[in-house]
Amino acid sequence: HKNGLQVAIDGPASAGKSTVAKLVAKQFGYIYCDTGAMYRAITLKALKEGISLDDAATIAQLTQATQISFTPDEGGQRVFIDDKEVTEAIRQEDVTNSVSAVAAIPAVRAELSDRQKVIAKDGGIVMDGRDIGTAVLPNAEVKIFLVASVKERAQRRYKENIQKGINTPLDELQLEIEARDYKDSHRKVSPLTKAKDAEEIDTTSLSIQEVVSKIANVINNKLNDK
Ligand code: CDP
Ligand code: CDP
Repeated sequence: HKNGLQVAIDGPASAGKSTVAKLVAKQFGYIYCDTGAMYRAITLKALKEGISLDDAATIAQLTQATQISFTPDEGGQRVFIDDKEVTEAIRQEDVTNSVSAVAAIPAVRAELSDRQKVIAKDGGIVMDGRDIGTAVLPNAEVKIFLVASVKERAQRRYKENIQKGINTPLDELQLEIEARDYKDSHRKVSPLTKAKDAEEIDTTSLSIQEVVSKIANVINNKLNDK
């Protein structure tokens, strides 16, 4: 691709995708795109407008009519819906608990994955999500599938919450993560699954820097092949 490789990073909730994707993008001077933020943005807007999560047709229409944009920020990205900043709002617990239902609507996925393909078309991008290596960028040069034990992932979410002053019990977070992974892995359209040609990395006992180095090695090997 014109601007570099397409790097797809998929995996279950809190495996560390966005944390390492941002650092990898920075290291290679690539764009970072968090596709989960797009599903979260539509979910936030649907909740705000009081649309029932069962009303697939209305949520599909809302998706068509909603502009989602990103601007790069120190160590990450800011997220906007129709020019209003929602970077923090899309991380709220009610959005987290409703997003898998919205992401299961086929027309929502079709619209958002079309937009993601456009964003990634020239390469030089690290894109993270659930179906990037399987559905959005099936020809990505680098595909990574990040996993970690559910206990470790719940603990990571717990620590993050404490820093934000939120004190949800650990076992509740673990149940929430398990429920979301189940829904994401069992939906009909582009469920969460490892692409055949993805490299799986178990991050349970790895530091962020160790995961970043492993991915950087895979990218450098690809770049040297060319
Ligand atoms: O909370 P976490 O950072 O793990 O999730 P996220 O990446 O923000 O994604 C939120 C939700 O969006 C997921 O649980 C999926 O339901 C959905 N999603 C998806 O279906 N496909 C993607 N490519 C990215 C996210
Ligand atoms: O994007 P995803 O939901 O996969 O995970 P995340 O939002 O990047 O959250 C992962 C959390 O685990 C962050 O608080 C990281 O600091 C921490 N962590 C990690 O990402 N990778 C490790 N190897 C160890 C910890």
